[in-house]
Amino acid sequence: MKLAVVGVGKLGLAILEGVTRRGLLSPSEIGLMDTNTERVARIAERLGTPVLDLGELGGAPTVLISLQPRVFPEASEWLSTATDTAHSGRGFISTMAGVSVKTLTRRLKTSRVVRVMPNLGATIGQSQTAITGTEAAAAHADTAFAHEIFGAVGQVYDLPEHLFNAFTGMSASGPGYAAVIAEALCDGGVRMGLPRALAHELAARLLMTSGALLLERAHPGLLKDEVSSPGGTTIAGLEVLEGSGVRGALISTVRAATERGAELGRDQE
Ligand SMILES: NC(=O)c1ccc[n+]([C@@H]2O[C@H](COP(=O)([O-])OP(=O)(O)OC[C@H]3O[C@@H](n4cnc5c(N)ncnc54)[C@H](OP(=O)(O)O)[C@@H]3O)[C@@H](O)[C@H]2O)c1
Repeated sequence: MKLAVVGVGKLGLAILEGVTRRGLLSPSEIGLMDTNTERVARIAERLGTPVLDLGELGGAPTVLISLQPRVFPEASEWLSTATDTAHSGRGFISTMAGVSVKTLTRRLKTSRVVRVMPNLGATIGQSQTAITGTEAAAAHADTAFAHEIFGAVGQVYDLPEHLFNAFTGMSASGPGYAAVIAEALCDGGVRMGLPRALAHELAARLLMTSGALLLERAHPGLLKDEVSSPGGTTIAGLEVLEGSGVRGALISTVRAATERGAELGRDQE
C-alpha cells in the first residue's frame, strides 16, 4: 500500500478518482479510512480499493488527511501513534483548511508534513492547488508526491504558507464568487428575454471561454480592450459596470475571505 486516505468525503473522493484515473497509483495501492463506513464501502467496491479499519493506516508510507478541521484534534491522537509503520517513515499530506504546518507538526508528532489547499475544481480534474511543506517533507519526497497527487486533479503551485489565506480567499473561495457573477449575468439575460436554461448555459460557457482567453494574455485589461470597440455595445455595458463599483467590491470580497481564513486558522491552533 502506497497511500492511505483518511476522510473520503467530497474532496478525498475527487482526489482518489483523479489519482487512479491518471494511473499514478492503482486502486489496490490506496487504502481508505472513513467513519462513514457504508459510504466508504460503496466507494471501495466501485473503485476496487481496500478499506482500512478505523484507526489503521495499512502500513502506508504516505497519509492524505482530508478530514474536516474540527475532527482533526481527536483523529490526530491515533494518526500520530499508529505503529504499523515506523512513524519516522511516514509522511502526511493535509487538505484541511486553516490547519497550519506548525499545528500539523505538533499534533502529528512529525516534521514530515505537507499542507495543500485545493478547490472544488478537483471534482472535474481542474483544481488550482497551493502546496507548502517542511524541509523534512521535501527531503523525504513527500512534497514531490503531493505535487503528483494534486497534479492528477489540476494545476499545482508552490506557495509560501503566509500566502495560503490569500490563496484561499481568492482561489479556493473563487467558485462561489464566479457563481454569483454567472447568476447575475443569467438574470440579465432573462431580463432581456432569454430563456433561463439557455442563459445559464451561456453564462457558464462565457466564464470558461473568458478564462481560456485570459490565460493566453498577460493582463485582463488586454481582453477587455479587445472586445470594446469604439462606440460599441461592450463599452456601453462597461460604463455601467464601472459605475457600480464592481472592482472595489471584488477586491473587498477577497480581502474579507482572506481575513476570515486567518481568523479560522487561529481557531485551529
Ligand atoms: N471540498 C472542497 O472543495 C475543499 C477544498 C479545499 C479544502 N478542503 C478541505 O478538505 C477537507 C475535507 O473536505 P470535504 O469537503 O471532502 O469534507 P467532507 O465531505 O465532510 O469529508 C470528510 C469525510 O471525513 C469523514 N470523517 C469524519 N470524521 C472522521 C474521522 N475521525 N476519521 C475518518 N473519517 C472521518 C466524514 O464522514 P461523515 O460524513 O460521516 O462525517 C466525511 O466522509 C476539509 O478540511 C476542507 O476544509 C475541501
